[in-house]
Amino acid sequence: MDRQNNQLGAKELYQAQSHICKHVFSFANSMCLNCAVQLGIPDIIHNHKQPITLPELVSSLHLPPGKTSSLHRLLRLLVHFGFFTTKNVNTDEGDQEGYVLTPSSRLLLKSEIPNLSPLVRAMVDPVLVTPWHFLGDWFHGSDKTAFETAHGVGIWEFGGQNPKFSHTLNEAMASDSEMMNFVVGECKAVFEGLSSLADVGGGTGRIARIILDAFPHIKCTVFDLPHVVANLPESGNLNYVGGDMFDSIPSTDAILLKHVLHDWSDEECVKILKSCKEAIPSKDDGGKVIIIEMVIDGERDEHDVAETKLVYDILMMVLVSGRERTEKEWEHIFLQAGFSHYKITPTFGARSLIEVYP
Ligand SMILES: C[S@@+](CC[C@H](N)C(=O)[O-])C[C@H]1O[C@@H](n2cnc3c(N)ncnc32)[C@H](O)[C@@H]1O
Repeated sequence: MDRQNNQLGAKELYQAQSHICKHVFSFANSMCLNCAVQLGIPDIIHNHKQPITLPELVSSLHLPPGKTSSLHRLLRLLVHFGFFTTKNVNTDEGDQEGYVLTPSSRLLLKSEIPNLSPLVRAMVDPVLVTPWHFLGDWFHGSDKTAFETAHGVGIWEFGGQNPKFSHTLNEAMASDSEMMNFVVGECKAVFEGLSSLADVGGGTGRIARIILDAFPHIKCTVFDLPHVVANLPESGNLNYVGGDMFDSIPSTDAILLKHVLHDWSDEECVKILKSCKEAIPSKDDGGKVIIIEMVIDGERDEHDVAETKLVYDILMMVLVSGRERTEKEWEHIFLQAGFSHYKITPTFGARSLIEVYP
């Protein structure tokens, strides 16, 4: 047995052990967050309109009294992670701790927009968690993704065969897209002057609706796989087209690609962008592609943002054949696809807006 660890002090070894435990059990973090969403804890705290004590929460959740201490433990962890915080409440029994929302749990309220709870629910769905168990096998094999190793087909094909999963995924994406409200608000100039826009890989059209709220005159086409856009209600300037973006994209002034390119390899991104280039006019005639994606910046990203980007990058490796990219990697793809220049507006949390011109 190798005794070299004896050269490390006991304190360092205990720290190392704790470090391993923190990471090996980090799945518990997402499961506890999902449990809070599933129980509707953020909504109950919100509806209570003042800090809610543990007994009040137990009663609102209709939990058996025997679960009070378990609920306290769940909340203690979520308070530690900043999803809730506590304030003193004066009650007949004296001062008690009352739970209140933080900005993060406000984003999980089912009654509000944006509401990211469908994203939380989807990411712990067994269909999306199972591929992680196959990551090691995938490294040795020849499947495109660990998702394919786990399920036998790629994620988009799986969605086409499983309407329930497709719905879960589309709702998750749509909830994430509700954050586009702020992007459109802050980047009005990006959309001004456009008379038509195609949201390619636009899912069920949540972003198109947000853009139409701000710019009702723009003719918005949501282009996605046929099973995703089938039977969605069109209205006014909003229409849906089913198809494959690798074949062709409907002609339009500008194209929006939000969280689409990070699903694909560099070669696939070049193909998609070439299809986009064929669908839009020259830069002088207003043609452009608007991309919402992460841009990894190892030097400037704050620790938490950097971690989010690196985790997303692995997520893209496990579920699809894509990746998160640095500015240099993005630039390479744009030039390969025949675009002449681009402008990056950082940053909306972990995402940036990139305008790419023919
Ligand atoms: C990660 S989701 C992003 C959805 C949406 N842009 C958003 O951010 O909410 C990627 C989307 O690409 C669509 N997609 C995948 N393959 C496609 C293809 N070959 N042609 C058109 N859309 C495709 C998926 O159905 C899905 O809606």
